[in-house]
Amino acid sequence: MERIGVIGGGTMGNGIAHVFAQFGYSVTLVDVKQEFIDRALATIKINLERQAKKNIITANEVATILGRIATATELKVLGNCELVIEAATEEATLKKKIFAELEALCPPETILASNTSSISITAIAAATRRSPKVIGMHFFNPVPVMTLVEVIRGLDTDEATFNTVMELSRALGKKPVEVNDYPGFVSNRVLMPMINEAIFCVMEGVASKEAIDTVMKLGMNHPMGPLALADFIGLDVCLNIMEVLHRQLGDDKYRPCPLLRKMVAAGHLGKKTGQGFYSYV
Ligand code: CAA
Repeated sequence: MERIGVIGGGTMGNGIAHVFAQFGYSVTLVDVKQEFIDRALATIKINLERQAKKNIITANEVATILGRIATATELKVLGNCELVIEAATEEATLKKKIFAELEALCPPETILASNTSSISITAIAAATRRSPKVIGMHFFNPVPVMTLVEVIRGLDTDEATFNTVMELSRALGKKPVEVNDYPGFVSNRVLMPMINEAIFCVMEGVASKEAIDTVMKLGMNHPMGPLALADFIGLDVCLNIMEVLHRQLGDDKYRPCPLLRKMVAAGHLGKKTGQGFYSYV
C-alpha cells in the first residue's frame, strides 16, 4: 500500500495525515475549504518540528514528510488511493454521504476506513456496496504520540481488510487492537462514562475540579485528569458520545451529566473555545 487518502484536516485528520507521511506513504488530504487545509498543514509542520527537536525525526525530514502530503478540496482526487480514511465531522448523515461518494470514485479493492469515535461502522458500511471493505480505524489524540489504533470490524468486514489494516497500523509504529462494532467501541464505552462521572462529581460538589483531576492523576497514574481530558477532547464531542451510548445501549447509567449539557449549551467546549472546566486564554 502506498497511496492513502485522508478526509478532514481537523485535529484527528491532520494527525493521521502526519503519521502516514512520516512513515513514507503518499498522502492526499482533502477538506472542504482551502483555509482548513492551510491550517492543517501549518499544524502538521509545527508537530513535525516538535518531533525534530526531540530527535524522533531529523530536521531535514520535516520538508520531505510535508512533501509527501498533497491536498485538495474535492473527493474526486482520491480515485487512485488504496486506502481512504475518513475523519470528517462526527455526523452519521455526512459520513454516509462521503462513503457513498467514495464507493463511486474508488476501485472496488480500495479499503474505506472511518476514524469515527461513536458512529456504527456497520451503518456506515451499509451506505456502500462494499461493506466487506469498510472498517473502523480509530486513532487517538495526539495521533503522532498515542500508540493505540482501535481497529473496528463492522458486521460484514472481511478478513483480508481486517488483516491489511492491522498490518498497516503496525507499519505506522502503532499498536492495533481488534474490537467489534458496538456503541463507543471499547475506548469510549469505558472512557466517556468515567469523564461523565467526574463531571457529576463537580456538579454535586464532591470535590473541586482540580482535586478530582489530581486524584485520578496521582492515584491512577493517568497523564491527565478526566476534566482536563474532557477539555482536550472537546465537551461537545464528549456529550455527543454519551448521547450515542445512552440512546443505543438504552441504559440510564449512560445519561449525560446535566452540567456537561449546560457547559456545551454555553459554548464552553474546552481547549478549542478557550474555556471549559479550565481557562485557556
Ligand atoms: N505531535 C507530536 N508530538 C506531540 C504532540 C503532537 N500533536 N503533542 C505532544 N507531543 C509530544 C511532545 O513533544 C512530548 O514529547 P517528549 O515526550 O518526547 O518530550 C510528548 O508528546 C508529551 O507532550 P508534552 O510534554 O507537551 O505534554 P505532556 O507530557 O503533558 O503530554 C499528552 C501531553 C501526550 C497529551 C499527555 O497529557 C497525554 O497522553 N494525555 C492523554 C491523552 C489522551 O487520553 N488522548 C486520547 C483522547 S480520546 C481520543 O482521542 C479519541 C476519542 O474518541 C475521543
